[in-house]
Amino acid sequence: METKLIHPIFKIISECAAEMNTPAFVIGGWVRDLLLNRACKDIDIVAIGNGIGLAESVAKKLGNKYHVNVFKNFGTAQIAYEDYDIEFVGARKESYRSESRKPIVENGTLVDDQNRRDFTINALAISLNINDYGKLLDPFNGINDMEICLIRTPLDPDITFSDDPLRMMRAIRFAAQLNYTIEKKSLDSIAKNKDRIKIISKERISEELNKIILSPIPSIGFKLLFDTGLLHHIFPQMTLLYGVENRNGKSHKDNFYHTLEVLDNICKTTTDLWLRWAAILHDIAKPETKRFELGHGWTFHGHEDKGSRMVPQIFSQLKLPLNEKMKYVQKLVLLHLRPIVLAKSEISDSAVRRLLFEAGDDIDDLMKLCEADITSKNAYKVQKYLKNFELVRLKLKDIEEKDNIRNWQPPISGEDIMNTFNIPAGRKVGLIKNAIREAILDGIIQNEYQQAFEFMVIEGKKLGLEI
Ligand code: CTP
Repeated sequence: METKLIHPIFKIISECAAEMNTPAFVIGGWVRDLLLNRACKDIDIVAIGNGIGLAESVAKKLGNKYHVNVFKNFGTAQIAYEDYDIEFVGARKESYRSESRKPIVENGTLVDDQNRRDFTINALAISLNINDYGKLLDPFNGINDMEICLIRTPLDPDITFSDDPLRMMRAIRFAAQLNYTIEKKSLDSIAKNKDRIKIISKERISEELNKIILSPIPSIGFKLLFDTGLLHHIFPQMTLLYGVENRNGKSHKDNFYHTLEVLDNICKTTTDLWLRWAAILHDIAKPETKRFELGHGWTFHGHEDKGSRMVPQIFSQLKLPLNEKMKYVQKLVLLHLRPIVLAKSEISDSAVRRLLFEAGDDIDDLMKLCEADITSKNAYKVQKYLKNFELVRLKLKDIEEKDNIRNWQPPISGEDIMNTFNIPAGRKVGLIKNAIREAILDGIIQNEYQQAFEFMVIEGKKLGLEI
């Protein structure tokens, strides 16, 4: 492993550790990522002794150019060095808990420290000591687990997970990110201890959930969350999508697995977290809007509208940002059925124009969502639907080139209306403004000043206004 410790910082830490007579090791995520050939900018150093003292001595050797952030209560110190974040900690007997408010009480050996880490692949350490510099220390066979792609806790999983229940989410997150299997005993323990997740803050849970969503095949993570029962705690609305009902010989698709397919599909075309969230939420209101209508079978009328209105509550519950990202997700959920009808040949330009106006710059993302929403098992149907969307894309392009409507503002502003009729801002201005916009979108008048002005005069008259 010595040759892998290329960065000069490791030699510097090694020298300081030797001077202080304090053995030191690189441990955890950095070692794991090194072996997985993944880039990692967080370096964790564990010292058998005074971790803070080691950090201070390293900073001194670096010419006192770097500030040492000391967290006395946690017994840790951190240095932001180049684009690395180096954290120093004294080895401990008790569990690693980054958010623990409790002071560190008992110092431990390297093996004590490794014992209390979350997974065998995260408990690997590399020596920075002169006598065995670069030696890999792997007491739980983490290397073997990496070879067989296994997530496993070093101790009895009930202990590891009760030390920090967030680790249940982390296990699933690593399984999704790395496409690893969770060892049966560890998985059973998650199912058994799932209720303990409630002591973890919503923010930390969502951070892990977002990492699952950003993994290459997020359905791996969601299936594990569902099967262990964690999803029922953290995001119950999504579990309601599960299941198939049959009436009079007619059944609908399982919307949970459908949603996961849509999510996996969209991951092939985007790495954007919020577009992936839109895929997760596009059918979220199906359970609430589900009806069985004689002659029609199962319907979900208005699920796009209801779903879009559910987004703020879900974002707030999950402590996701209640900002323009949320509005973007709402918009895509609301519009996700609209492009389908545009494929019909008799569709008017105004319908296309209206969608372009409502979607604005998010039209391309909306089309990606629609295409990802095709989950039929019938290859012929998939081809047919994809062709339809190709057609819709052409129509959108055509109208956009003609009318340039995406980020369009009507030629008459609210101010123009107020000045023309000599009226203050108020309801009437809004009514006239809307009427002009609708008339242009419907193709009743052209998108130009003179026609819009004349139309405004007529609309004003209807409201008793004179120029
Ligand atoms: N760790 C742990 N239990 C936790 C969190 C972290 O045992 N709940 C340990 C693991 O050894 C982990 C190390 O602390 O490797 C560093 O944790 P962190 O930086 O949070 O995560 P990484 O494992 O590095 O993964 P990532 O950077 O992808 O979040």
